[in-house]
Amino acid sequence: MPEVNPAYFLCYEAAAAELPYDPLQVLPGIKVQQITDFRHFCKALLQQPSPTVRWVLWLDAQGLGIREVAASPPGPVRVDLLDTRMQWRLHHGGVRSELLARACGLHRQTQDRPVSICDATTGWATDAALLAWHGAEVWLCERSPLMRLLLADGFRRASQHDSWKTWGERLHWVGQEACAWLNAQPEKNVDIVYLDPMFPERQKKARVKKEMIVLQHMLADEFMPANESELLQAAFRAAAKKIVVKRPKSAPFLTNLPPDQQIEGQSARFDIYLPSLQRINC
Ligand SMILES: C[S@@+](CC[C@H](N)C(=O)[O-])C[C@H]1O[C@@H](n2cnc3c(N)ncnc32)[C@H](O)[C@@H]1O
Repeated sequence: MPEVNPAYFLCYEAAAAELPYDPLQVLPGIKVQQITDFRHFCKALLQQPSPTVRWVLWLDAQGLGIREVAASPPGPVRVDLLDTRMQWRLHHGGVRSELLARACGLHRQTQDRPVSICDATTGWATDAALLAWHGAEVWLCERSPLMRLLLADGFRRASQHDSWKTWGERLHWVGQEACAWLNAQPEKNVDIVYLDPMFPERQKKARVKKEMIVLQHMLADEFMPANESELLQAAFRAAAKKIVVKRPKSAPFLTNLPPDQQIEGQSARFDIYLPSLQRINC
């Protein structure tokens, strides 16, 4: 059973009959509380001498999300692969204009031989969805138990839509820490390993996406040390063709290893490593 920081608990506001599932089943052992007014609930928490709860899992009729405890609490953040922003991006971003799709060579794949990708750091699954939409078969690893819960609920909701069938079924849920999974596979078992490990975002940047802020705080609470060099090594072992690493534009290379190729966007870049090339250190 995944261990979750005891500072988390699950709140739900709706009548139990409207909820997608029983709150007590979400994460056995987590503190569960039904509340009528979230703002009031936050106020009471914040008035405690040393408030420890900063985020709560939030369950309502739409599903599971995570919500910040604040004087003016924003709405829950959920894994939402079919929201309007995502739909727009999927329908308008062509395989050549989406840098990630290009970095993975999806413009060159054929229907009878789709590219196989392990998204080793799934997070909100935006990138994984984009890769599957553009025809890749994607295996999803995620080490955070909280993120895994949010993802499971996001997939549950998405799978209820007809549009999901055409591409959602190319997403294969592994739901495990990536090094463990990759190292348990035969060598060169996937074409590409995609890595987008957390990189501290500059909070002053005008538009740090709210999902990334939530993730940073949430993961900081889970006390999981970065295991970047282990991750890169596992990726080199498992990938037959490429390792693609997403980095903020000015960030150092992952484990300081210079890539073999790069694709640069406005705010992010993709560093590409070719495992077939001889390399002294990785
Ligand atoms: C920056 S987010 C990824 C965002 C993602 N690309 C998206 O489109 O939403 C990084 C995620 O990688 C996960 N992660 C970090 N190290 C991991 C590992 N070794 N195995 C699996 N997941 C990992 C973190 O828990 C976090 O959810």
